[in-house]
Amino acid sequence: MTTNLEAQLLALQQEGEKAIAAANSLENLEELRVKYLGKKGNLSVLLGGMGKLPPEERPKIGAVANAVKEALQTKLDQQRAVLEMAKIQAQLEAETLDVTMPGIYYPQGRVHPINGIIDRAVDIFVGMGYTVASGPEMETDYYNFEALNTPPDHPARDMQDTFYLPDGNLLRTHTSSVQIRYMEAEEPPIRIVAPGRVYRRDNVDATHAAVFHQIEVLAVDEGLTFTDLKGTIKVFLEAMFGELPIRFRASYFPFTEPSAEVDLQWNGRWLEVMGCGMVDPNVLKAVGYDPEIYTGFAAGFGVERFAMVLHELDDIRRLYTSDLRFLRQF
Ligand code: DAH
Repeated sequence: MTTNLEAQLLALQQEGEKAIAAANSLENLEELRVKYLGKKGNLSVLLGGMGKLPPEERPKIGAVANAVKEALQTKLDQQRAVLEMAKIQAQLEAETLDVTMPGIYYPQGRVHPINGIIDRAVDIFVGMGYTVASGPEMETDYYNFEALNTPPDHPARDMQDTFYLPDGNLLRTHTSSVQIRYMEAEEPPIRIVAPGRVYRRDNVDATHAAVFHQIEVLAVDEGLTFTDLKGTIKVFLEAMFGELPIRFRASYFPFTEPSAEVDLQWNGRWLEVMGCGMVDPNVLKAVGYDPEIYTGFAAGFGVERFAMVLHELDDIRRLYTSDLRFLRQF
């Protein structure tokens, strides 16, 4: 009887150890634990027969049973460790990033040289407290000419021939129209910088385009003088081109009085870079400002011109043909 139960216990141990060693998942392992060591498991069932044993044999069988139980428990612990490790390993492998895999290539864009100049110029004026303003490219005759002291018979219109639309509107010839729109909508003090596209009926060649860009500058306040204009332009041009000699040359614009053209000494030559002047009292009157109280200065310049000088371009058309070999240089 004893030997029979002992043999059964040992057989159970053998069978259990084998099954546990073959367990291939933690769930499977738990099933085996319940099967062999659970309350109603195989070991318990076998030990249920202990009561029938003669009392003197019980300690010996009990010791065997304990040893079997311990052996199975040890085997279970070992296998659990193995399976847990395998599970972590599998997880790590599944989540591994191959850092040597080629990435997705996003071609990098660039700022077009025209926008580059606009950004730089606007930044400089914003640094001096100016606000960015804009206006429509399709304008009325009033905003583009008339309110800027340029009546229909004015000879200055010849220099700014433009495209007229069937409804009588036109494509603005300069950003100066933004001056009027902004002053109509706001009260002094005013400090604005207005970049934008403008149009002229010019024949296209190396230095002319029918569509190009300008940046307009306007300041209106009490007590502004030509000195303020000069100082502002000087600060701007130095920030843009470096500390080069500049000169103000008397000129004429209908919307400024006095007017001047600004030249910059570039590579030993005087280069005309912008127009400017004190806002003509007639312009202030057109927007309802009292010229006895307010004065202002204004300036306007061509973005392409600046780009050509700064980037040493020989032909304005390079800026419009979207040739990537050209654009990638910037
Ligand atoms: N609007 C002028 C042009 O297109 C440039 C200009 C000159 C603008 C003098 C101004 C100015 O504001 O004061 O030729």
